Amino acid sequence: MEKDIYILGIETSCDETGAAIVKNGREIVANVVASQIEFHKKFGGVVPELASRKHLEIINPVLDEVLEQAGMGFDDLDAVAVTIGPGLVGALLMGLGAAKVISYVKKLPLVGVDHIEAHIYSNFIDHPDLKPPFVALVVSGGHTMLVYIEKYGSYELMGQTLDDSVGEAYDKVAAFLGLGYPGGPIIDDLAKEGNTEAIRFPRAMIAKGELNFSLSGLKTAVLNCVSRLKLESQELPLPDLAASFQAAVVDVLVSKTLRAARQKGVEKIVLAGGVAANSYLRRRMTEATRDEQMALYYPNMSLCTDNAIMIAASGYYRFIAGERLSLEANPIPNLRLGQSVESV
Ligand code: KG4
Ligand code: ZN
Repeated sequence: MEKDIYILGIETSCDETGAAIVKNGREIVANVVASQIEFHKKFGGVVPELASRKHLEIINPVLDEVLEQAGMGFDDLDAVAVTIGPGLVGALLMGLGAAKVISYVKKLPLVGVDHIEAHIYSNFIDHPDLKPPFVALVVSGGHTMLVYIEKYGSYELMGQTLDDSVGEAYDKVAAFLGLGYPGGPIIDDLAKEGNTEAIRFPRAMIAKGELNFSLSGLKTAVLNCVSRLKLESQELPLPDLAASFQAAVVDVLVSKTLRAARQKGVEKIVLAGGVAANSYLRRRMTEATRDEQMALYYPNMSLCTDNAIMIAASGYYRFIAGERLSLEANPIPNLRLGQSVESV
């Protein structure tokens, strides 16, 4: 029997400090996520400088806790995998620094992981049967893209946002509706009591053949609508605003994702990233893929938003492929999907 491989994953690309230990790329042994949301709430969004400082403060306790949860020591590990990009440079540096120290002191191989690839790979944890080819819709706070994955490690960017990401649109709309931060889960809940057809917001770039996205016009449309209602001294119909905004976003996401899958002739669609936790998106995608006789995959809730399980899982595949990162490696804040992170 082959030896089991235990990978420690470390994630600090934005505002979650995460560490996890995953066995053979699929089995979760231990997982810790320390969210900084409470610290950033009062600023209405992530403050990069504050994020780096918070990672620095909490990374060691998070690492201690994950080892304790697993009942393991560093010597029981086979490698350390860490997010190298994309993300906030200062935040990435904190995780990379910690991973380098562990790698150097404990003589463990170091592996660099692409955060977006890891979001896509989070689907392999819950769906062992999932294999390429498939089309992935990646919707997070930082990214909105349609990717064709023909085989492991091969990525074709089919479409992406030309301005705001979907997560950003949720967060900004929630902010000017005075709903708090992060806006995604709040709008998701509020919309359940609202009417999706109460206000007709624009569906940008929905034209035939188009696979790119634009969210800024929709954001402005919501802002204008809210200003008009306020001028007329009307009470804001918050659930209707939330449901109508969400319907405009999701209509576009569903139609373009199906279009991309049809274009490639694939029958599998994968959702990934923080917004993949959205209940309305999941429901509409489930209905649409059923009608088209396609299979839909999405990660369980805790794997949608940033976590280190997905980093360890993705790191496992890079580790067994022989990829290694040098101790001199720097973060790559604008890392492109498919770009090599292997160091010379
Ligand atoms: O993937 P993620 O944790 O961080 C990035 O890599 O960006 O995504 C965070 C984003 C935030 O914009 C948050 O509002 C959004 O995911 N989000 C949601 C939901 N849960 C989180 N958006 C819509 N509905 C949700 N239920
Ligand atoms: Zn993310």
